Amino acid sequence: MKIKNICCIGAGYVGGPTMAIIAQKCPHINVTVVDINEKRIAAWNDEDVNNIPIYEPGLSDIVKEARGRNLFFSTNVDEAIDNAEMIFISVNTPTKTYGIGKGMAADLKYIELCARQIARVSKTDKIVVEKSTLPVRTAEALKNILENTGNGVNFQILSNPEFLAEGTAVEDLLAPDRVLIGGDIDTVKGKDAVEALVNVYANWVSREHILTTNVWSSELSKLTANAFLAQRVSSINAMSELCEKTGADVNEVAKAVGMDSRIGAKFLQSSVGFGGSCFQKDILNLVYIAKSFGLNEVADYWEQVIILNDHQKRRFAANIVKSLFNTVSGKKIAILGWAFKKDTNDTRESAAIYVSDYLLNEQAEIVVYDPKVTAEQIYADLDYLGTRSDSENRSLVSVVSTAEEACKNSHAVAVLTEWDEFKELDWNEIYKNMLKPAFLFDGRRLLDKAELQSIGFDFFVIGN
Ligand code: NAD
Ligand code: UGA
Repeated sequence: MKIKNICCIGAGYVGGPTMAIIAQKCPHINVTVVDINEKRIAAWNDEDVNNIPIYEPGLSDIVKEARGRNLFFSTNVDEAIDNAEMIFISVNTPTKTYGIGKGMAADLKYIELCARQIARVSKTDKIVVEKSTLPVRTAEALKNILENTGNGVNFQILSNPEFLAEGTAVEDLLAPDRVLIGGDIDTVKGKDAVEALVNVYANWVSREHILTTNVWSSELSKLTANAFLAQRVSSINAMSELCEKTGADVNEVAKAVGMDSRIGAKFLQSSVGFGGSCFQKDILNLVYIAKSFGLNEVADYWEQVIILNDHQKRRFAANIVKSLFNTVSGKKIAILGWAFKKDTNDTRESAAIYVSDYLLNEQAEIVVYDPKVTAEQIYADLDYLGTRSDSENRSLVSVVSTAEEACKNSHAVAVLTEWDEFKELDWNEIYKNMLKPAFLFDGRRLLDKAELQSIGFDFFVIGN
């Protein structure tokens, strides 16, 4: 099947950037990204390309190049489905907040809604691509819905999980370590569908980097990759606590360990804890799937990655309280960075949310500065926890537009996102304007300990 029109349902952190790259690299394919969120689509269509809803280095230039040429953003989901030969489903798959599997399983209601809509609207054969991260064997459910409610149309279902990381989405998409495509490779139609998607990626990815598997392997590989990555962070974070007790330095340990080519140096940066929309959600989902097969030891093994991560956030916050003479009540604490990592405006599951919540429970006053996150988002994140009323959050937390302002007259500063600009701050000046003793807690190992101690800070860093 020759692909001339692609539809992507879901204009989020995955749908938006992924489709922008496909459109840029395949000028012969029309790509329409649709979403039910009108505000988000309006932002993608904003005349000023700097106002697109997702901040990713390099993304606005690509959108500028392709938008209106062969890249379109729309709320007309039916029309885009009808016109497309290939439909990517890239909607959110959050952890369930109700019913069976609450707090563990992935909530697949948005996926199912998409499948029903595709079944209802389609008049011609379609290749449906799972781009969202899904529990293994979801394709079976999708197939069931499509085949039983469709109009006699032939649907091929592919799994094509996305491995991009936020903050580096554009480079990850342009030069992926691999593109994974799972399909019904035992049938001719299935093989053709896989080939059609391979041909899309082959416009810029070499064939050696395009891996084809059966659908179940592809679905499970995505959960496995995220579990392994998160496990590395929890492993090094576990060591960070031991380093603090023993005089070892976690960066030195990470370097020594990472130089073993079997282990590798990447993803060994100790931190205040991993955040982001996916690691926790996907591991919880993996734990749930393992449990549902009665594999309790497997489930417990992976659950420990989350338990350790929660512990890391909590102990970082507890150390702030302890260091400030066991009370932060009425004290002003500056939070530098709210995003879950640098170079993104995404705050989902960011450690900053949980550290701040802990400190607020201890009656601290919080002042936040983040270069890319809005005040509205920061309050929404705290309100979502439901720990205190919206109005209390607004009275205890203020959001300012510079790091210097956040730190002024504060008792302590906590660096929670590794934004490059925090390295360049005039820490001498910040020190002068803080209450003394001036405490600085580096949750990202971003700052130079010796330098900050020589300025006069009481300096604490994870893993040292
Ligand atoms: P997101 O919340 O940013 O975007 C999802 C979008 O889907 C939302 O804008 C929502 O309005 C839209 N949507 C939901 N139901 C819809 C429907 N029925 N019709 C039309 N639009 C609908 O989510 P995301 O971060 O882009 O993640 C999407 C999926 O990709 C998830 O499964 C996630 O696990 C996976 N993933 C995410 C990342 C990442 O870096 N964020 C990376 C790899 C994989
Ligand atoms: C992660 C994976 O890296 C992607 O491959 C995957 O596609 C994506 O999840 C997904 O499925 O959503 P992302 O969450 O965007 O990407 O960002 P990461 O770079 O993986 O960072 C996740 C968290 O771990 C961040 O809070 C980061 O600060 C933290 N981290 C990462 C560390 O604390 N130490 C490290 O060494 C690496």
